[in-house]
Amino acid sequence: MRYTPDQTRDLNRLTGHFLEAADIQSQPSLEQLREVLRFHEWRYYVLDDPLISDFEYDRIYKLLERSEQVHPEWASEDSPTRRVSSDLTESFATVDHLNPMLSLENSYDLADLEAFDLRVRKLCGLGAEEALEYFAEPKFDGGSIAVIYEHDRLVRAATRGDGARGEEITANARTIRSLPLRVAFSTLGISRVELRGEAVLSKQRFQAINLQRETDGLPLFANPRNAATGVLRAKDPAETASRNLDAFIFQVSYAEGQNGRILPDAFPTHAAWMEQLDAFGFKVAIADRKVCKTIAEVERYVGEWTGRRDAYAYDIDGVVIKVNELSMQLRCGSTAHHPRWAVAHKFQARQASSSLLDVEFQIGKIGSITPVAKIAPVQLAGVTVSSVSLHNEDFISQRDLRIGDQVLVERAGDVIPYIVKAFPELRKGLEKPIVFPSRCPACSTPLVREEDEAAWRCPNDRCEGKRLQCMIHHASKDAMDIDGLGRSLIERFYDLGWLTDLSDLYSLDYEDISELEGMGKKSAENLRKSVEKAKENPIYRLLHGLCIHHVGKKIAQRIAAQVQYLPDLADWDAERFMAIDDVGPVAAGNLVRFFANPQNLQMLRRMEALGVNMRATEADQPQVSGSGGIFEGKTILFTGTLERMGRDEAERLAEKLGARVLAAVSSKLNILVVGRDAGSKLAKAQKLGTVEILDEQAFFDRTGNE
Ligand code: IVH
Repeated sequence: MRYTPDQTRDLNRLTGHFLEAADIQSQPSLEQLREVLRFHEWRYYVLDDPLISDFEYDRIYKLLERSEQVHPEWASEDSPTRRVSSDLTESFATVDHLNPMLSLENSYDLADLEAFDLRVRKLCGLGAEEALEYFAEPKFDGGSIAVIYEHDRLVRAATRGDGARGEEITANARTIRSLPLRVAFSTLGISRVELRGEAVLSKQRFQAINLQRETDGLPLFANPRNAATGVLRAKDPAETASRNLDAFIFQVSYAEGQNGRILPDAFPTHAAWMEQLDAFGFKVAIADRKVCKTIAEVERYVGEWTGRRDAYAYDIDGVVIKVNELSMQLRCGSTAHHPRWAVAHKFQARQASSSLLDVEFQIGKIGSITPVAKIAPVQLAGVTVSSVSLHNEDFISQRDLRIGDQVLVERAGDVIPYIVKAFPELRKGLEKPIVFPSRCPACSTPLVREEDEAAWRCPNDRCEGKRLQCMIHHASKDAMDIDGLGRSLIERFYDLGWLTDLSDLYSLDYEDISELEGMGKKSAENLRKSVEKAKENPIYRLLHGLCIHHVGKKIAQRIAAQVQYLPDLADWDAERFMAIDDVGPVAAGNLVRFFANPQNLQMLRRMEALGVNMRATEADQPQVSGSGGIFEGKTILFTGTLERMGRDEAERLAEKLGARVLAAVSSKLNILVVGRDAGSKLAKAQKLGTVEILDEQAFFDRTGNE
């Protein structure tokens, strides 16, 4: 360990201080600032375990840059602004790079890009209107490599190291299939060439690796980058080979002919080089790059990628913009830290560190207790996050979370924010364990946890907290879809004592509602119309809206397809329920219990009297599966996030091809399609041993939807 626990805590405290600082007043603070940056570079490059986000690092880095500009008298040769950060460890031989391997300057907004354009034009001696091409491509998030070919053979590969010297990883790099071992550079008159690129792992491979590690009981990788950089420096090349890394090449940093150096004469532009490398069989982002004629075109490209990023097969953290013409690149030159002819436009941060202030326990519609972390507000991908679900007790204990911990929070794409991990090394000893309540926070009934369930639940049928949440669910889009009747309005009506059970939602007094603050006649009338419309709903919506544990939308649809009049379900026994696909003994038991309860039947009768439809409609009839499709006669289930299309869309596709979509893993399941972040369903299917497991690619290959 290069830093002791005490130093780690101190440097982390200083990090917080510098993140808030506007400028630096003294030379000793400037030294501290440098020390903080060196520490975070080490966490990122050597440990692969950063404590702060790239965005936070850049803020501190820019503070240092600014302070050094204001106080040139405090300059120092070993400042992080004067050199490239280092990933050197002691396990590999180090080698000199043919050219320094620099970093990139980061930009976060369009104003930064425009400032870059102005700077470049000045350096190149070009006016605002003169032609200047930019080459833009994704910024891959992996580990940098430099690969040398001599006399057409791959002879050496190295990591970035400290920029001047890197670790020699030739044997490992030779296992990367997208790096050709022999290339006819000699046909271009080149005898020696150095290429720069990024070793990466596709998201799909990353998923598969983590799934395997989960099965083997090994710690999971936090992201594809960590999984790639770690194995790049594996002691045994077979380990690198087994991980199936890819390498994208994005720069020709040196080329030498028989008669000395020839770069940049071999090709006039970076784009031309990339096309040549593509033709040679290297992996270059040829289809994803763009040569832009104006900075406005660059901005459009950046905008496009912000939307495309999640669907891309590799993790990218921004786009890189380079001056396309190599003679212009030479005119721009470089600082000791980055080339002046390139800039990285980074996407908004998706991860940030924050502190876990408190945990609240919220009750759900079926009485499940969800722990919710209150964290110090942080900006994640443009949204302020201050509340994060901790899902259940196991989630907390697996991550050993404590109140007062510094935690890493992530919000990726449309995914709800979650806590990736805590930083135990930053604990001061004052952190408190999170104590799960033993009684319901709403009604104090002792909680129960059923076998095979992750959640603790309140078993009290008359629990007020549960009832309110059930009403919110009942009116929601998923169930009765009562437009305009959301959580806050239901809470208001509930507090006013207007709601005791679900039937009250259908006998609201719209006069009284129109007199509520912020409502008025028009809103009350709109609400009345939505409620009237919902009364006509198919009965599966009503059944789903009754908040019966284990009776989700799919099961509600299956049952609704088998019954003419909803209250008739009171005559069904467990066996009859279980004859329906996906209905197991637990759901069947809950259904029987619900319909045996006279209070529930009375409530349904009241609803019917108020005009709520109880008879099966056309929408309750089963959807006919396509016949003759490749999935004919098969049952299928999707789990995890799909990259290519939404879950609903994929389900419809499978149905069109003859499959029946199930809601849960059971012995009736034939095929499980596994997307990103698949969880317990996969483990269950593996255990059954009779389920065919397909990853997303294999599924689409079968549908012929390549
Ligand atoms: S061009 C600096 N293009 O990002 C010399 N770099 O943060 C020119 N990176 O060290 C680099 N994708 O390892 C370039 N399409 C891309 C890139 C890329 C990822 C890495 C590279 C660089 C780091 C700087």
